[in-house]
Amino acid sequence: MQSGAAEAITIEGLAKSFVDKEVLRSISLTVPAGESTVLIGPSATGKSVLLKCLLGLMPIDSGSMKYGNLELHAQDADGWSAFQSRAGMLFQQNALFDSLRIWENVAFRLINQERMSRKKARERALIRMAEVGLGEEMADLFPVELSGGMQKRVGVARAMIGNPELLILDDPTAGLDPILTNSILSLIERATAGKGTTVLVVTGDMKAARSRFDNVAMLFDGEIKWSGRREAVPDAGNPYLEQMINGRARGPIKMRLAARD
Ligand SMILES: Nc1ncnc2c1ncn2[C@@H]1O[C@H](COP(=O)(O)OP(=O)(O)OP(=O)(O)O)[C@@H](O)[C@H]1O
Ligand SMILES: [Mg+2]
Repeated sequence: MQSGAAEAITIEGLAKSFVDKEVLRSISLTVPAGESTVLIGPSATGKSVLLKCLLGLMPIDSGSMKYGNLELHAQDADGWSAFQSRAGMLFQQNALFDSLRIWENVAFRLINQERMSRKKARERALIRMAEVGLGEEMADLFPVELSGGMQKRVGVARAMIGNPELLILDDPTAGLDPILTNSILSLIERATAGKGTTVLVVTGDMKAARSRFDNVAMLFDGEIKWSGRREAVPDAGNPYLEQMINGRARGPIKMRLAARD
């Protein structure tokens, strides 16, 4: 992939509903260029839906998204696919290709988009795999032969191969032990600090959210309730953000164990 200059993402008034459920009411958010931004929010608030809408994998109902000079609206399929080709992505469920070997999964973009030779693509894949703690002996296995955490790391390596200018990662450290979590977070940090990549990450790890990303955005009830620099979080005085980041049971976010009344 041609790695261009990273751009900011600007989302305005983005809305997405399913048949009888409004998930995203009106999302407005800027993801600054060349920095990392973490998106947090309670389970089932629409974090994954927002990432999929951003990538054009789910049609939006209304609103717009700008990335550099690309301006995308609902029904703009060509625009979204141009945008997709500039992004590396990891889905929450990994979405590995079952019939491809691990190295082929990791090297998918190099072989299919950049038309790199298989030999060279394999070499590159092995380097990326090593960075996420996967040895060469894993290269020829199939996804089904790996543990959940290993599959997650394959997904991270695949998203980051080819140094995309934009990285969108849904829960990249879910199910990993603390040591692997740290090494993946450091890898993400190097992508922003070292290469100026624009990074948007969803995580449920509030320790990481507090300390490892440049910017924080809090999603709840169909909107971004707060967004800003990480340093501003402790004094933000935003009850949603405060409750989420500190994992408090009390606050404006009520746990819905039963049907909503
Ligand atoms: N394809 C779909 N069809 C219908 N409803 C959907 C679909 N995808 C997601 N939803 C609903 O949208 C809401 C938000 O889901 P989403 O997966 O974005 O949550 P999330 O914030 O990523 O949660 P988690 O932290 O548990 O991953 C949920 O109520 C979910 O049931
Ligand atoms: Mg999710």
